[in-house]
Amino acid sequence: MNLVRLVCRHKTALALGVFFLFAIVLLFLAKCTSETLKPAESPGAAPRAEARPKHSAGPPHAKQLSSFLAVLVTTGPKYTERRSILRSTWLTKHDPEVLYWFVVGTEGLPPEDLQNLGSEQIRHRDLLLLPDLRDSYENLTQKLLHMYSWLDQNVDFKFVLKADDDTFARLDVLKEELKTKEPSRLYWGFFSGRGRVKTAGKWRESAWELCDYYLPYALGGGYVLSADLVHYVRLNVRFLKTWQSEDVSLGAWLAPVDVKRVHDPRFDTVIITSIPVTNSPSKFLNQYLF
Ligand SMILES: *[C@@H]1O[C@H](CO)[C@@H](O)[C@H](O)[C@H]1NC(C)=O
Repeated sequence: MNLVRLVCRHKTALALGVFFLFAIVLLFLAKCTSETLKPAESPGAAPRAEARPKHSAGPPHAKQLSSFLAVLVTTGPKYTERRSILRSTWLTKHDPEVLYWFVVGTEGLPPEDLQNLGSEQIRHRDLLLLPDLRDSYENLTQKLLHMYSWLDQNVDFKFVLKADDDTFARLDVLKEELKTKEPSRLYWGFFSGRGRVKTAGKWRESAWELCDYYLPYALGGGYVLSADLVHYVRLNVRFLKTWQSEDVSLGAWLAPVDVKRVHDPRFDTVIITSIPVTNSPSKFLNQYLF
């Protein structure tokens, strides 16, 4: 009874007391919440932002470029004229389904050559410059590994045509035929491998010790790979033995792989090279595909 009377007498003070207590509890809760949110936001963001620019860390970065068919033309730093002929013959038409690059290694190049390549790049934006590769005949197989690794990491594509800078190809025909093919495990070209291993001359293979013959390989003047095989090559890049010829090397790398080797005489660049082509668009283009 006393307690009830006491409460009645001081009800204003009591109400005020309860109100303040309530306010303090609310303030305390609000402070706790903001503190638990903070650590999740700021300290986490900083290291993530630092790691992001490095391509190797974290999830694979999204591929910026995409095309149905990628064309990689291996060429030397000084062959500006050959490149301009290709640009004005079979690489003329703008096709959103085709992206092409001229691949050049730039390590150790004199400043003048670098400058020329730089201005060529500004004009055409179609050079794939490999700064970690010295461009030499002996390094062609390394170049192949570098360019396929780059392609696999940077381009979303279905097929790649590898060509030389004296190759002529009818891209429209090739593309239409590729549309009818399954984009997986395709190795399409003119296959050779019957030849005895050369021990002298330009095409000498001094380190070939697998057998007396080459393993079947598509001639390097022009052949097509599906994207999954390019990925396979990149994944194994640290283990692959490289031989002198890039096409012989690729044939050996893909020998134990379950691929569809499609032999097609239309990729025969050797026979056609030996036939004088009277209506050739240029003296440089002497390997015809399709
Ligand atoms: C091949 O390329 C590497 C890397 O650029 C270079 O160190 C080496 O000298 C090159 N080899 C030849 C024979 O040019």
